[in-house]
Amino acid sequence: MKRILLTGKNGQVGWELQRALSVLGEVIAFDSKALNLAEPSAIRSLVQASRPHIIVNAAAYTAVDKAESEPEVVDAVNGKGPEILAEEARRSGATLVHFSTDYVFDGKSSTPYLETSPTAPLSAYGKSKLHGEQAIIDSQCKHLIFRTSWVYANRGKNFMLTMLNLARSKPLLSIVNDQRGAPTWARSIAEGAAQVLSRTLNSHQEESWGIYNLTCSDQTTWFGFASAIFELYRNLDPNFTIPELKAITTKEYPTPAQRPLYSVLDNRKVQNAFHVNLPHWKRALELCLQERFTS
Ligand SMILES: NC(=O)c1ccc[n+]([C@@H]2O[C@H](COP(=O)([O-])OP(=O)(O)OC[C@H]3O[C@@H](n4cnc5c(N)ncnc54)[C@H](OP(=O)(O)O)[C@@H]3O)[C@@H](O)[C@H]2O)c1
Repeated sequence: MKRILLTGKNGQVGWELQRALSVLGEVIAFDSKALNLAEPSAIRSLVQASRPHIIVNAAAYTAVDKAESEPEVVDAVNGKGPEILAEEARRSGATLVHFSTDYVFDGKSSTPYLETSPTAPLSAYGKSKLHGEQAIIDSQCKHLIFRTSWVYANRGKNFMLTMLNLARSKPLLSIVNDQRGAPTWARSIAEGAAQVLSRTLNSHQEESWGIYNLTCSDQTTWFGFASAIFELYRNLDPNFTIPELKAITTKEYPTPAQRPLYSVLDNRKVQNAFHVNLPHWKRALELCLQERFTS
């Protein structure tokens, strides 16, 4: 029976991983109180005491705008924390599974980013996530790094829940329509990552380690995402009133952190290597909303 140490158990992806990983072994899951990634000695003690075969790091500082005002804190959690996990994984022979972001790119591309595309993060959050990726690779531990994007779920803070809440009180919503990406359900990420991990463990192939893009397929804008949330929700609840939506530009919605205008990721590497295909973003959204409506 493999021992799997999971961080960030209450996050969107971490919550789903508790279930998705349970078929692969015994999951020992921690929240930020039990394991603070900003405390290197606590990380080392916990890993050494629990002697996991697999470490899955779903914890991260994800408040992209707040990160601009505390870059040292975000780097401690997203950069240094994974670095320590990787050192411990390397020392013990454990496999490290980690999650990263489309925000490692500057968004100047007009075609989907490959795993090998040059990175150039625009924000403190993006820089800290890139630090985490590079530290894991440099450590030479056995690792899988999944870059994902625009994550939502029926828990936590995310765009889908924000839209559904705003629709209750606001008749008109202005939504950014010039940033392109792939909305991705946390459950799809967890299921995809667990499949890849399972196949990697069985194949024992060193060349499988590395970075993989892992997002739902196709792409849209925040405006397109909001429109789909409301249309699909109204299919479930005919009494739901869709607010009027106004498409605006990024310039009209200034935020502390700069975000890439284009951050679509190319998923062909994970598809070819592991036959893992996450669903179309709209299909995943429909399933997530169905679950919300029926629970
Ligand atoms: N959210 C997105 O749109 C998005 C997009 C691309 C990539 N990603 C990446 O996907 C992964 C999962 O993201 P998510 O959306 O599931 O994040 P999330 O919902 O914000 O959850 C992150 C979890 O990390 C924990 N955490 C925060 N600071 C910590 C610390 N100092 N020590 C230990 N744990 C800490 C939090 O624990 P507590 O709840 O206990 O505070 C929280 O449960 C992350 O690597 C993220 O960078 C996310």
